[in-house]
Amino acid sequence: MRNLNGRTVLVTGGGAGIGAAIVQRFVEEGARVMVADIDTAAGQSVADAQGMGFVPIDVGSLESFEHAVAATVERFGRLDILVNNAGIASLRAPIHLSTLENWHRVINVNLTGVFYGMRCALARFVAQGSGVIVNLSSVAALVAFPELPPYNAAKAGVSQLTKEAAVEYAQFGIRVNAVAPTAVMTPMNQRTARETGDPAAFERALTSMNPMPGAASSEDVAAAVAFLASDDARFISGVTLPVDGGYTAV
Ligand SMILES: NC(=O)c1ccc[n+]([C@@H]2O[C@H](COP(=O)([O-])OP(=O)(O)OC[C@H]3O[C@@H](n4cnc5c(N)ncnc54)[C@H](O)[C@@H]3O)[C@@H](O)[C@H]2O)c1
Repeated sequence: MRNLNGRTVLVTGGGAGIGAAIVQRFVEEGARVMVADIDTAAGQSVADAQGMGFVPIDVGSLESFEHAVAATVERFGRLDILVNNAGIASLRAPIHLSTLENWHRVINVNLTGVFYGMRCALARFVAQGSGVIVNLSSVAALVAFPELPPYNAAKAGVSQLTKEAAVEYAQFGIRVNAVAPTAVMTPMNQRTARETGDPAAFERALTSMNPMPGAASSEDVAAAVAFLASDDARFISGVTLPVDGGYTAV
């Protein structure tokens, strides 16, 4: 990918799953990466394995995000790319049976957390006249999955926030895009698979849901993130790029 070498990247939720693959891909591209995660042991372990930095973060707290951005700048001297990857699964329930606790928890991490990250990074990007943001949306932003109201709403919000920021900040040389993965067998979905009581059936469903055979991998998603962050995508802003084997094309 063009011009990722030497760039400074902050990846939230970099301690597991798609985030860990994103960290690895940026390191392979020669970038300097700050891994940020609420799970200190997991985040530190990914950072140590890659020889990169770690900062604890709860993306659902503005103060925590401000601290993570400041720590990145302190360690590497600047911030060029923010990947808002951290996210959580929703409990399954239709709207009329949903708990408010689950609604607020998922919206806070998956949508407000992305807003916090963009707010912190954009303040710096405007001042330096450059910057790239890549947000983790989902196919759940493009089609609705039953019984996941806050997850669907948060991801649709992330895609719309991505467009809003792309339009607003283009004048400052800043690009903002999102990726929308189909289901990937990360720790998030491994937990969901166990909760169904029949993990094998869940995994079979996951590998047969897309027109393309097989399942998407975290590395497939990481490649799309790296592309959108690189200068190969220098004239691309405001898109939500599905990484879904054709799932949303049907
Ligand atoms: N796995 C999928 O099928 C899938 C599909 C579409 C979109 N996504 C999105 O991709 C992103 C990564 O998902 P994943 O499957 O790798 O999840 P995961 O649960 O496997 O990993 C998520 C990481 O984020 C961290 N995290 C959770 N809450 C946090 C918080 N408040 N602050 C900081 N870190 C926090 C976790 O500790 C973990 O290391 C999420 O935004 C998710 O919604 C995943």
